[in-house]
Amino acid sequence: ASLELGPYRHFMQKEIHEQPRAIADTIEAVMGANAFVPELFGASAGEVLREVEGVQIIACGTSYYAGLTARYWIEAISGLPCSVEIASEYRYRKVVANPKQLVVTISQSGETLDTMEALKYAKSLGHDKTLSICNVPESAIPRASRLVYYTRAGAEIGVASTKAFTTQLVALFTLAVTLAKLQGRLSPEHEAEHLDALRRLPGSVQHALNLEPQIIGWAERFAPKQHALFLGRGVHYPIALEGALKLKEISYIHAEAYPAGELKHGPLALVDSAMPVVVIAPNDSLLEKVKSNMQEVRARGGELFVFADDDSQFGSSDGVHVIRAPRHVGVLSPVVHAIPVQLLAYHAALARGTDVDKPRNLAKSVTVE
Ligand code: G6P
Repeated sequence: ASLELGPYRHFMQKEIHEQPRAIADTIEAVMGANAFVPELFGASAGEVLREVEGVQIIACGTSYYAGLTARYWIEAISGLPCSVEIASEYRYRKVVANPKQLVVTISQSGETLDTMEALKYAKSLGHDKTLSICNVPESAIPRASRLVYYTRAGAEIGVASTKAFTTQLVALFTLAVTLAKLQGRLSPEHEAEHLDALRRLPGSVQHALNLEPQIIGWAERFAPKQHALFLGRGVHYPIALEGALKLKEISYIHAEAYPAGELKHGPLALVDSAMPVVVIAPNDSLLEKVKSNMQEVRARGGELFVFADDDSQFGSSDGVHVIRAPRHVGVLSPVVHAIPVQLLAYHAALARGTDVDKPRNLAKSVTVE
């Protein structure tokens, strides 16, 4: 294994650093076509996607958070309604099916039992427009789906998903833009803009990876903590969820995420000087709202650890630590912000001496109920 690891200490660290390459490979077909065309999802995708009236996403774990992120893109870009559900909930619910919806399952392994069973259940309800976003060719879930988009992250060994997540995000973004085009909602200017955003993404992700030394400094302060709170708003709220999941999975620090606007409805009661609060605060339309949420935390003595970008326009001050990504990348910003929360979890776990690649009680692929 040490040979395969190269200069890295763990597969998770290696996989985090592979993300610029994994993303570049995953978007290669889009770049090659230089357009968002339905054929990216399979030969018959044109006729299937054209008729879609909405999207139902189903997944587990980190893949579910990719789905939650995609919902913002799908609704904002394509105008189609989108709901996202945890597979183990969907499969046991009396679902009111609408077969005109596209059912999208997201799975790194393609073998997660709950996701597979949820897909079978959807099909039994008459859903025949099914699409799998998957990292493992010819695994069970893509085989049971009509359309497929393979992420090209390469084998993911670390139990905590990293490169699978960001490649799922770019596949889902591609889906959102392709649906928009089929809906007649995509101007040529917007198509060119979205292509350009994708093309620049591997470079922006590399810039985020370069923040590692600063994040190591933060991780050392996190290591002795018992709890942490993650906040985000809008499309960055699922990134806060993913950051909390990563931290609890591998460092065993209890972490939870909240949409920052919901702080006052409960979690604010937990905030004191012992509770570090991580905030995803890029310069998007919700930044001013996030800033006032940060003041609510500061007023209760909470220590803030803020991931921002160069355009966010605030600096570190007493009790407020800021790490900045070099530039705001626009619509793909959640992909870039996934990187620092992965690195924070990794280095906090390292400082605590946990088994990063094989956290206790967890499995890479959950093929039992
Ligand atoms: C397990 C893994 C997670 C993963 C989840 C869903 O819990 O530890 O990293 O996100 O399963 O797996 P899938 O292969 O369906 O994406």
